Amino acid sequence: MKTYLVTGGAGFIGSNFVIYMLSKYNDVKIINVDKLTYAGNLENLKTIANNPNYVFVQADICDKEAISKLFKENEIDYVVNFAAESHVDRSISNPEIFVQTNVMGTVNMLQCAKEAWTVGDDTYKKGVKYLQVSTDEVYGTLGAEGYFMEMTPLDPHSPYSSSKASADLFVQAFSDTYKFPVNITRCSNNYGPYQFPEKLIPLIMNNTLKHKDLPVYGDGMQIRDWLYVEDHCKAIDMVIRDGVLGEVYNVGGHNERTNIFIVKTIIQYIKENVDSTVSEHLIKHVTDRKGHDRRYGIDPQKIKEALGWYPETSFEVGIRKTLKWYLDNMDWVENVTSGAYQNYYEKMYSGKQEI
Ligand code: NAD
Ligand code: TYD
Repeated sequence: MKTYLVTGGAGFIGSNFVIYMLSKYNDVKIINVDKLTYAGNLENLKTIANNPNYVFVQADICDKEAISKLFKENEIDYVVNFAAESHVDRSISNPEIFVQTNVMGTVNMLQCAKEAWTVGDDTYKKGVKYLQVSTDEVYGTLGAEGYFMEMTPLDPHSPYSSSKASADLFVQAFSDTYKFPVNITRCSNNYGPYQFPEKLIPLIMNNTLKHKDLPVYGDGMQIRDWLYVEDHCKAIDMVIRDGVLGEVYNVGGHNERTNIFIVKTIIQYIKENVDSTVSEHLIKHVTDRKGHDRRYGIDPQKIKEALGWYPETSFEVGIRKTLKWYLDNMDWVENVTSGAYQNYYEKMYSGKQEI
């Protein structure tokens, strides 16, 4: 029985990972540590909440006492660090919390794991590993050609991606300095169930259903490389089990789409399946995001060749599954977007000029 300390397991990808692991294996124990910020929601986990192999602990990854206690009280084999502030727009208006959680929180997790796992000078309990869940955004932006590879230099532009790149450098430093057993995964944009509706796909879905404006930043020709969240979970599982210590693995499925294509796809889906009166007239091109990266594109060759990973869900299948999930779970959307989120949304979009 392996014990995983998963941080941020009440967020979008973390909750999908916890559900994925508990559905796939009977012999894993998951301890989910989450601060439950606006982005964390225990409703995401209600299908597995009573699983005997699952424990939830509300704590901040920056809290040394709380995290050390977890290591003292449990024989932890793996750490999977999802916990982060994850929204680029929020990082532009409030960068400090991104440094606190994404950088300081990662260093605290590394320190606590190192203290708990040390058995001698630069030697650790057998078989343990720390996996940092990172992002392709640390590589910066691409022109029309080329892909991000693991050796592409880090060149982050937003406060979010800068904080994630800083965290990656600390993970690398622990590997280089202390021979600490780590892996880093850098994945492209995820989509799927439980994504907080401030991100592009659920936001556009929710607004279209309500006949609200669809804010498209700038010309909408920015490109993201979309991966169905379950394929990301599968990659993380494989890297924990078989990834070579100290290595970085890029994760992506060659599913590049412009933002405007995504928005039009969602409108079309709703038009065909829910409400024939919606149309592209809802699209509003608004002031572009500051420092907006133009294109992301992952080269996943390394993880494919080394670990045999491949994406199982095509974009066409994944997007329909995702949009159907949101339609079937509109009460979830209402619950997570009530209260403080409304104020954020009004503030965020009232300042945006139509262009
Ligand atoms: P999310 O915002 O949906 O979830 C983040 C979770 O972390 C929430 O449950 C939140 O409560 C928790 N959290 C925040 N601060 C915390 C703290 N100080 N202590 C403990 N818990 C805290 O994010 P997500 O989209 O699920 O992303 C998860 C990870 O994957 C992040 O590290 C992100 O950088 C990375 N990532 C995301 C994407 C994507 O497309 N969403 C792509 C690649 C990598
Ligand atoms: P987002 O979902 O915030 O992910 P990321 O910034 O991490 O890629 O945004 C995806 C793309 O969609 C990005 O290019 C910004 C754009 N976008 C809009 O055009 N309008 C919106 O309202 C949002 C939230 C994003």
